[in-house]
Amino acid sequence: MTKSQITNSRVYIAQIPEGVAPNKSHFRTVTTTEDKPELEEGSVFVKNLLFSLDPYIRHEFAEGAKETEVIGFGFSKVLESKNPEFHVGSSYFFGALPWSSYSVLRPQDLTEHFNIDSIDKEIPLSAYSGVLGASGLTVWDSLRRVADLKKGETIYISSAAGTLGQLAGQLAKRKGLRVIGSAGTDEKVAYLKNKLGFDAAFNYKTQDKREALAAAVGPQGLDIYYDLVFDNTVEIALDLFNPHGRVVTVGLLAGHKGEGLALPKNIVHLLLKQIRWEGYTVFEHFDEFETFWKEVTPLVKSGEIKYTETVVDGSAENIVETYLRFLKGAYQGKVSLKLGEF
Ligand SMILES: NC(=O)c1ccc[n+]([C@@H]2O[C@H](COP(=O)([O-])OP(=O)(O)OC[C@H]3O[C@@H](n4cnc5c(N)ncnc54)[C@H](OP(=O)(O)O)[C@@H]3O)[C@@H](O)[C@H]2O)c1
Repeated sequence: MTKSQITNSRVYIAQIPEGVAPNKSHFRTVTTTEDKPELEEGSVFVKNLLFSLDPYIRHEFAEGAKETEVIGFGFSKVLESKNPEFHVGSSYFFGALPWSSYSVLRPQDLTEHFNIDSIDKEIPLSAYSGVLGASGLTVWDSLRRVADLKKGETIYISSAAGTLGQLAGQLAKRKGLRVIGSAGTDEKVAYLKNKLGFDAAFNYKTQDKREALAAAVGPQGLDIYYDLVFDNTVEIALDLFNPHGRVVTVGLLAGHKGEGLALPKNIVHLLLKQIRWEGYTVFEHFDEFETFWKEVTPLVKSGEIKYTETVVDGSAENIVETYLRFLKGAYQGKVSLKLGEF
């Protein structure tokens, strides 16, 4: 390999998973030694440093993208630039990136970037792909825009130990709500109760979900279901709701595994209890980042808002195996794969 060459690993979608969770056979990782690319005006050549592992990647498959590169969110550092806004040595790109070791980003790809001088050095950069990134914004904005949190009410959060769930629980607690969460391991359940201050939590894999949720909700009834899963839990929530309850549907974790939602048999409760069921996506609210950071960054910095993250060391060649482990719930909190130092 000469000085003008690089070794690049790229991940492609080999097969579309039909109604099943993604597995190894759905991906293909190709490693090549190649010449450094010639840049066109406005483009930059980056080394990818950290990939945020997010469940929604499943949707790329659903839309049928065989033989295209997998795209995720990540951070990269600028190695060469023909774009006046990106400087070698001080600019970091954060946004949609192909799962590869190196990438060429064209002007239309360069939607977000951080200058190294504008980053709060006391907060790990990885936090900007989780609690202070699009995930955090989603929670903060959906709670204030859709959930209509009221002091004294009870909220239940599914996948509560995940990236969104952890923040949702803590923000709701700060507003004076009674917070119930569920997660898939006893360690995660203990973390919710002992570290994050959830009022109740249960293991949805080892306990009967209906019984456990009904016991946690108790005679006070349920007011908000913060739905990150989109499965039959809505049916249970509808039975437990007080009048004017709200379902805030934000995530599709069951769908990412190819599991569909059956329409709740008791959907008539929407009428009888005057329930509001509303979906939220963050994509039209990125202009709220500044306000969100102003409010939440100090809370993260002071430790008033806690978050756990798992940063797995690896390379572009390990993305697939790390991602598949992540989908099975093997890691705690926000999960990223780190390919290099910042
Ligand atoms: N609407 C938006 O704009 C928006 C923005 C960002 C993310 N999202 C969505 O929000 C959801 C949560 O995102 P996240 O980043 O916080 O994910 P996450 O919770 O970190 O996702 C991984 C965890 O989900 C849990 N899980 C997997 N399948 C499950 C199931 N069938 N039922 C319950 N829990 C399950 C697993 O933990 P356990 O051990 O607990 O099972 C796993 O560790 C995702 O669907 C994501 O795509 C939406």
